[in-house]
Amino acid sequence: MKDTTAAYGTITKVLHWGMALLLLWQFLSAGARYFFEDTAIEAFFWPSHKPLGVVLLVLIVLRLVWALMNRNNRPPSVGMAAKLGHLSLYALVLLTPIVALIRQYGSGRSFEVFGIPVFSGFEGERIEWMMDLGGNFHGEMGWVLLLFVTGHIFMAYHHRKNPNKTDVLPRMWKK
Ligand code: HEM
Ligand code: HEM
Repeated sequence: MKDTTAAYGTITKVLHWGMALLLLWQFLSAGARYFFEDTAIEAFFWPSHKPLGVVLLVLIVLRLVWALMNRNNRPPSVGMAAKLGHLSLYALVLLTPIVALIRQYGSGRSFEVFGIPVFSGFEGERIEWMMDLGGNFHGEMGWVLLLFVTGHIFMAYHHRKNPNKTDVLPRMWKK
């Protein structure tokens, strides 16, 4: 279950690959909104964007706690760039939905996820700085995350194919 210095454990692997699949879906819904606004494609994908975004936020918090619990017992990082890259992925998956939720709160509208109330909403003016924060940064941070994920996948491939590098895929993939 737990990580070792030779490989990641089951919990880390399930979180890593499970979240990779959920993020793929999240980007399909973002892409549907960006490229296919007001079409059947957007109508199909977009309704899952907010609820799945909240699920991803909960999962990344659990994953952060798990990473901290295992921090002295994980495969060693292959370098400073890898360490900073992984840290940036954590930061972006954490901050992107938080910024969206701040905007959601600022709108004053009630908000629920799978029938569970998150905000009850409020009367009166919406909170402009909260609206601006989300409006200026949420989508942009999301696209930067996609860029970093693409770089991450490319680097995993590069380390696998280059004989001078450590192949890191087995530590995250093999049983
Ligand atoms: C890890 C989680 C999330 C990711 C990666 C993500 C990603 C994105 C991206 C890339 C866009 C830009 C789409 C475009 O350019 O049209 C976007 C838009 C949007 N997202 Fe998210 N999102 C996440 C979570 C959330 C959450 C939790 C909410 C709501 C509570 C939310 C609400 C919205 C809304 C309303 C838009 C359209 C307005 C805008 O572009 O800012 N997202 N999201
Ligand atoms: C096809 C997609 C992906 C592949 C092939 C892949 C591959 C890998 C590999 C081989 C490692 C181990 C690296 C090492 O120990 O040095 C790793 C770790 C990691 N990956 Fe991915 N990855 C993918 C998708 C993602 C996505 C979408 C995220 C987004 C958050 C992500 C975040 C991380 C993080 C944060 C680590 C460090 C270990 C941890 O804390 O879980 N990966 N990945």
